[in-house]
Amino acid sequence: MLESPTRSPGPAPTAPPADHLPLQGIDYLEFYVGNAKQAAHFYRTAFGFRLVAYSGPETKVRERASYVLEQGDIRLVLTSALGPDSDIARHVLIHGDGVKDIALRVDDAAAAFEAAVARGAEPVMEPTWIEGQKGRLQKATIRSYGDTVHTFVNRSQYQGTFAPGFGRRDDPLVAKDDPGVGLRRVDHVVGNVELGAMDRWVDFYARVLGFSQLAHFDDEAISTEYSALMSKVMQDGSGKIKFPINEPAEGKRKSQIEEYLEFYGGPGVQHVALVSDDIVATVEAMRQRGIGFLTIPGTYYEDLPQRIGEIDQPLDALQRLGILADRDEDGYLLQIFTKGVQDRPTVFYEIIEWHGAQGFGAGNFKALFVALEAEQARRGNL
Ligand code: FE2
Repeated sequence: MLESPTRSPGPAPTAPPADHLPLQGIDYLEFYVGNAKQAAHFYRTAFGFRLVAYSGPETKVRERASYVLEQGDIRLVLTSALGPDSDIARHVLIHGDGVKDIALRVDDAAAAFEAAVARGAEPVMEPTWIEGQKGRLQKATIRSYGDTVHTFVNRSQYQGTFAPGFGRRDDPLVAKDDPGVGLRRVDHVVGNVELGAMDRWVDFYARVLGFSQLAHFDDEAISTEYSALMSKVMQDGSGKIKFPINEPAEGKRKSQIEEYLEFYGGPGVQHVALVSDDIVATVEAMRQRGIGFLTIPGTYYEDLPQRIGEIDQPLDALQRLGILADRDEDGYLLQIFTKGVQDRPTVFYEIIEWHGAQGFGAGNFKALFVALEAEQARRGNL
């Protein structure tokens, strides 16, 4: 049986400490990709996102093209370089397609930046007002693990589409009222860091952004015969933003985290978890649209009724679709993991449906890990 995660005590409910850097949520995730036009088509057709804005030569931006996609409260920005000499081109050369920016919405980007830098964050872009025809947008950027950054965004004085330099687009493929595949919001964004670096980044999120530790999974909890990883889950003061940090642990063979680090060229975002209120319908739709998911061995479902008890979803549908289920004292959750969404074995997605559980699917880690390793072995990297 797997250990349940240890939880930090957290602040007393009567006197919460002042949050030195209050965050409203994730504003957008920006990916640097080799071909943003094609990536946008993939996310629209396979994931059900809708194109809402574009920036590029047609909007007088010469060096890059960006597509803004939305579904529920999730906003993705896909950006490509238009020439070889830029940070975007360099990023894609080293990392392949990946998450560059986990942008955080704030009331005051200058105040957030100054508070973060005063607590040790490395500055990337000083607070800047970007003027547009429909108001102005305030941005400032700090560095996180690897080449990943956090941009603080204050859009309270901007009424235009996404940001100055972007033009509104009406998606010819996905209608405005199209619910997509039922994805609602970002649940968590997981970072992979080098062996021995997890606690440094846990400390970074605690010290710089005022996050606290929600859960800790050690290598005993997340291991197979061959390899292991360790993970700590950090969350912001409001509980809306969760950033787990993984590092590889010693095993007989190469950890899946090491494989990621090798192919990504260093630390970066491993997976993005997206919430669905109807995971069975969402996964059914995504499978029909061509998304591949990790294969879960049939044995996983044999004792599932004993482990999970009464749930609202039919177990045969979960098994048919490869959806995992886990229960703790507070409730249950359903989750599934896609295969990688680019040729390098790096970024993938999780779809998750919550029914009150707090435990982050600890009971599924073993099944997930075995499934990931089977994929890793097929690539000849285990
Ligand atoms: Fe996850």
